[in-house]
Amino acid sequence: MDYLKIKSSDTLSGTIKISGAKNASLPLIAMTILAKNKVVIKNLPHVADINTLLKLLSNLGAECQFLDDRVIVDTATINETKATYDIVKTMRASILVLGPILARFGHCEVSLPGGCAIGQRPIDLHLKALEQMGAKIEIRSGYIEASAPNGLKGCEIIFDKITVTGTANIIMAAALAEGETIITNAAREPEVVQLCEVLNESGIQIEGIGTAILKISGTNKQLLDINEFSVIPDRIEAGTYLCAGAITRSQLTLTDVQPKHLGSVLAKLEEMGSSFTLTNNTITIHPSQEIKPVKIVTQEYPAFPTDMQAQFMALATQANGVSIIEERLFENRFMHVSELQRMGADISLNGHTATVNGKTKLSGTDVMATDLRASSALVLAALVAGDETNVHRIYHLDRGYDALEKKLKAVGADVERLKE
Ligand code: EPZ
Repeated sequence: MDYLKIKSSDTLSGTIKISGAKNASLPLIAMTILAKNKVVIKNLPHVADINTLLKLLSNLGAECQFLDDRVIVDTATINETKATYDIVKTMRASILVLGPILARFGHCEVSLPGGCAIGQRPIDLHLKALEQMGAKIEIRSGYIEASAPNGLKGCEIIFDKITVTGTANIIMAAALAEGETIITNAAREPEVVQLCEVLNESGIQIEGIGTAILKISGTNKQLLDINEFSVIPDRIEAGTYLCAGAITRSQLTLTDVQPKHLGSVLAKLEEMGSSFTLTNNTITIHPSQEIKPVKIVTQEYPAFPTDMQAQFMALATQANGVSIIEERLFENRFMHVSELQRMGADISLNGHTATVNGKTKLSGTDVMATDLRASSALVLAALVAGDETNVHRIYHLDRGYDALEKKLKAVGADVERLKE
């Protein structure tokens, strides 16, 4: 297994190009199941989760062609509708194939994804919505067995909770359903918006894009001609590098980024003392020497994203004062706390709320990544910890960050990827 050896860095400087969004790419790859043509996808990030989903599609019989700056996915050759445990266990977002496969083929088996490090991650809302659209769903030997021999029927879906992949699953199911589907309490994340935009440009009439109420007119199982598209930039990757600039007091410029996707993140960084120069596709951070404490509550977009919680906790250890961070989406998303404490952070937990007393001097040591965003928090802490930090189990990091150590090295960080 690989690990990262990180020495504390003086200030960094330079430019970081942001890759395509992992969480936009996953539903967009699943969406190719709705197409009759070969779908050209540009700007996919080179991360493990994307490879896992493309491998899943290949296991179902699809053909994926990798060219230098794009992937071409042909799902006309799909001859299997069972997504097996060996793949699904490595990435729960595999559940995104359920809606499209069921809508296209009338039956689908997907291994129950199970929980993951940050929480139980149920999919009850996905299943309940598909049943409302006429699917018969059974759970047998750890698999979801879904069937809709007469196709799915559009209807009114009201999500009890806002679910990002749940919304994406139902949008894709509704695209091939008969009649109109109205989704109320839909997720509004930019990644869901892009899925709607690409489907809309491919002939699916969708009203309310970007709002909590979506109206989707289905084709009644007519497959789509999906136009070539480029994946939007990864706002969480971008937010992570902005935190790197803030924690090391470095001016960094991010390119190929959409500032409008980072409103709540930029606002919190400004509260902590940073300022920014923005264009429509770049962000330059001008960090303050003194970092101010902050209060954060994670909520659905456009509020502060849970996927940035761990990174801000690392930053808060360097703030002068007490920061309060409340995690409202996942029940176990504080696993980075114990590793940060081992580096010297003064953090106390009370249920879903963390109190971070700063500023503390962090010291380098061996730490273990536990989940994707916790890993990036440890990297941020290591950039300002004395001595040397070894971040182990970085396969977690490789799931969602494209060439992180290369991008950090290019702006002056002392980071090396080594073998255990
Ligand atoms: C997506 O996960 C993201 N993953 C997550 O990013 C992100 O943290 C999360 O949305 C919240 O923004 C992808 O897009 C691939 P949810 P998702 O369904 O869709 C509950 C990362 O780091 N819920 O929006 O699985 C659930 O327990 C990853 O890139 C149900 O109760 O999250 C949670 O409390 C981590 N029943 C809340 O809703 C359901 O059927 C939000 O979950 C579905 C969800």
